[in-house]
Amino acid sequence: MAWILDTPLTCIQRFCVNVIKSGQVPRHIAFIMDGNRRYATKNHIKKVAGHKSGFDKLAETLKWCFELGIEEVTVYAFSIENFKRSQEEVEGLMELAKEKFRNLLEEGDKLKEEGVCVRVIGNLSLIPEDIRRDIAKAMIMTRNNKKLFLNVGFAYTSKDEICSSIKTIINGVKNDEISIDDIDEKLISDCLYTNHSKEPDILIRTSGEVRFSDFLLWQSWNSLIYFTDILWPEFSIWHLLGAVFQYQRQSRDSECLNKDYNECNEKVKNFLDNVDEKRWAQLELYAKN
Ligand code: FPP
Ligand code: MG
Repeated sequence: MAWILDTPLTCIQRFCVNVIKSGQVPRHIAFIMDGNRRYATKNHIKKVAGHKSGFDKLAETLKWCFELGIEEVTVYAFSIENFKRSQEEVEGLMELAKEKFRNLLEEGDKLKEEGVCVRVIGNLSLIPEDIRRDIAKAMIMTRNNKKLFLNVGFAYTSKDEICSSIKTIINGVKNDEISIDDIDEKLISDCLYTNHSKEPDILIRTSGEVRFSDFLLWQSWNSLIYFTDILWPEFSIWHLLGAVFQYQRQSRDSECLNKDYNECNEKVKNFLDNVDEKRWAQLELYAKN
């Protein structure tokens, strides 16, 4: 299945999407796509086939988010912890990722047409070279698309991301680009892998697990957390609309807690521009290897 689907909504789906769109639509939804292996067991298929169904569901979900006017989607596709799974499963997941990121490169025109920018968040140094090359190419290819941002957590954990942000900042201090007094919440956010993302309005986890599993710990401090028992490959537009409806009820009742940071000074701006430039230079290198 492709990343960007053309399948239209049914009449009833379109009607419900329009009703939901008359309320406040979240800008960013994050998903912990859990339950693929239990789905595989339930349907007597191999684990990797369960993950494949998980990918197909991701493509469908992207389509629904797009229809709802959601600007940003972040998914947990592979955690650093997942490297500890059996060799067979890790290899199966890597094969799947290889195929899907290769397909993504072939969908360049469609991604441009729909304005989809793909960003892989994670410790790219841990990813096998061939997959990393395609990931880098995909990020470079879609970097100017601005309608829907898809962040794929791959070789990602939040703790690793926060360590990486801290290292970036320490290097900045060591090189006299910034001083210790410049370190604040905003700077730490601005050095995360998600530096160009908004904080998620909703974090959805499927499969009945009620945990964060080291996903977006810093970013989801104020997100609505929506746990559902459904296994990820069985997730439907109705579950998504249910989560958005709950968000709308809650945001009507609660005060707005969005952080209002002060503008950073010129020195910090230059430092952050450099951090960005170095990341793109690293991606250019990965894309060539
Ligand atoms: C969690 O279910 C799912 C994963 C570890 C992998 C998720 C990957 C996909 C949905 C495919 C996405 C691929 C790309 C390239 C974006 P689980 O394995 O923990 O299942 P369980 O909870 O039933 O054991
Ligand atoms: Mg699981």
